[in-house]
Amino acid sequence: MNQVLTTPRLTLRPLRRGDGVRLQALCGNWNVARMLAVVPHPYPDGLAETWIEEQTARWQSDAAYVFAITLAEELIGVIGIEREDDGPYDLGYWLGEAWWGQGYVSEAAARVIRFAFENLQIEKLTASYFADNPASGRIQKKCGFRVVRHGTLPCRARGEEVEAVFTELRPAS
Ligand SMILES: CC(C)(COP(=O)(O)OP(=O)(O)OC[C@H]1O[C@@H](n2cnc3c(N)ncnc32)[C@H](O)[C@@H]1OP(=O)(O)O)[C@@H](O)C(=O)NCCC(=O)NCCS
Repeated sequence: MNQVLTTPRLTLRPLRRGDGVRLQALCGNWNVARMLAVVPHPYPDGLAETWIEEQTARWQSDAAYVFAITLAEELIGVIGIEREDDGPYDLGYWLGEAWWGQGYVSEAAARVIRFAFENLQIEKLTASYFADNPASGRIQKKCGFRVVRHGTLPCRARGEEVEAVFTELRPAS
């Protein structure tokens, strides 16, 4: 639970209760929320703190490993893997809009994938992205994910089903 991962520019650390206000401010942005499946918009007060507490519990039961993406000790986004019951771990991430386009999520994702395969010995990761989010598709492609199917996912912020691409990644043998 004290796991900290580093990359050339970033530190990935477990979330803390005190991250709630910042998290709400950054992913309360429509441009972030509209690309995520389960984040509501507007983002209600208190939800971030509840969600952070859940992540702490889920880390302890191996259900999720979610990290704050920090740059110079400032939280700029979130990345992690989580699973339902005995299903595969699914990679998810978002970054505050002010930091887009600088390769931060590609850098963070590569590190979390290495953590999953090397430290946790996970045999397969899944991921997905909305069809209108090519930047996320590009990140997954660069990390080696392959497209396994096209379908739809409900998007809570948009309040509708959105076309989505589903991908998976196995460790290099
Ligand atoms: C999508 C998101 C995670 C990207 O983060 P980021 O740190 O800006 O991404 P990176 O800079 O690491 O990489 C983005 C890649 O997509 C490419 N890209 C950006 N916009 C693109 C577009 N419109 N079409 C195609 N590729 C695009 C970039 O060129 C880059 O690829 P490159 O490294 O080969 O040049 C960020 O914009 C975000 O958090 N968006 C809102 C939430 C979200 O979409 N989360 C993911 C849900 S699946």
